[in-house]
Amino acid sequence: MRQEWFDQARFGMFVHFGLYSGAARHEWVQSYERLTDEDYRQYFEHFDPDLFDAATLARTAKETGMGYVVLTTKHHDGFCLWDSKLTDFTSVTNTGRDLVREYVGALRAEGIKVGLYHSVIDWHHPDFTIDWNHPRRDDEGAPELNVGRDMAAYRAYLHGQVRELLTEYGAIDYLFFDFTYPEEKQGWAGKGPDDWDATGLLALCRELQPDMLVNDRLGIPADFVTPEQYQPTAPIVRDGVPLTWEACQTLNGSWGYHRDNTDQKSATLLVQMLVDSVSMGGNMLLNIGPDGRGAIAPRDERTLAEIGEWMRLHRGAVVGAGHTPLTPPREGVYTRRGDRLYLSLFSWPMGFVHLPELAGRVSYARLLNDGSWLGTSVSDPEREADLMTPAGEAEGTLTVHLPVRRPDVLVPVIELTLTGE
Ligand code: GLC
Repeated sequence: MRQEWFDQARFGMFVHFGLYSGAARHEWVQSYERLTDEDYRQYFEHFDPDLFDAATLARTAKETGMGYVVLTTKHHDGFCLWDSKLTDFTSVTNTGRDLVREYVGALRAEGIKVGLYHSVIDWHHPDFTIDWNHPRRDDEGAPELNVGRDMAAYRAYLHGQVRELLTEYGAIDYLFFDFTYPEEKQGWAGKGPDDWDATGLLALCRELQPDMLVNDRLGIPADFVTPEQYQPTAPIVRDGVPLTWEACQTLNGSWGYHRDNTDQKSATLLVQMLVDSVSMGGNMLLNIGPDGRGAIAPRDERTLAEIGEWMRLHRGAVVGAGHTPLTPPREGVYTRRGDRLYLSLFSWPMGFVHLPELAGRVSYARLLNDGSWLGTSVSDPEREADLMTPAGEAEGTLTVHLPVRRPDVLVPVIELTLTGE
């Protein structure tokens, strides 16, 4: 099955890098600020990724416990990080470097799966029509700008570029298209699957890279769905069938480097989001936006290092793990891998944690960070509370005894070995 490695990996790295990294105020800056091609051109002229080091990126992903990486080949601004023969708006033109080639090589060398992001939107292409996302939408006489723009020509360009990416760089494991917005807004049309010839594009992917996973953002179903910047609270099921899903998350709300945005999520929150995703049967793709020189920003590096240290000790609760229908206690979430059940605790209870349905089903309990044994007991449900005696827990409840001191890790995890599984 195409997505087996993906289900196993559970944790990946998203990398948004492009001209907007130098602008340093969100990857949508061209649209948000209605910048003209001329305004935006300075970021092309001064693009200088001297610290973009694909080997460091790959090593960082590995040390963070991530099994795959997804790099923006082209974002909505149309700038290409590879040697496209179909445009000169590329990193080869201004720096002589094919960053996609450097990236693919470095990931393979680390044994990490290779993912590409590709925007189907293109604000630079002269045939791409103005719509409600386009930087030119508020220009005077904007609708006239669409006269002569030919989406059929743009489609040929889009398919041609995807063909380049899927033929010139060896095996690609994953492709994240972005994105489709068919609804009308403010008097402007959006763009739907027909604008991309989504069916033809997906067929092209299947033909050129039959084992590659493709996301759902061409506006037609493919291999996985992509909740963005929110956490699903249950497994995602459509027509009774559980779907493969991946939540993509930012470190500070922006995908591209945003220097002045200090809304950084804590490493603890991010680890909680990761195990929460796995507990609902999903993956998490955590983004970094390298800075204007292509370096991983120090604040991001620190966050990733903290997550990596947690992953070093707790990887079993994430990699190869997934959803279980068992009801977790109020303090945390469960993930399961074979006969191992992992309880990730988001709050640390005093003395005990009570696990419904697990009495008689656990042969061993330990803290995962240091492998220390934890005692367990089952109380008499009839027992009444008295001065120093707690009431018995509900029938079938297993009580795990905890040290008073919470282990000094971002999220403590109890590993339970299940019997008879
Ligand atoms: C979006 C945004 C974008 C980002 C992406 C990541 O839809 O347009 O800037 O690249 O999602 O999922």
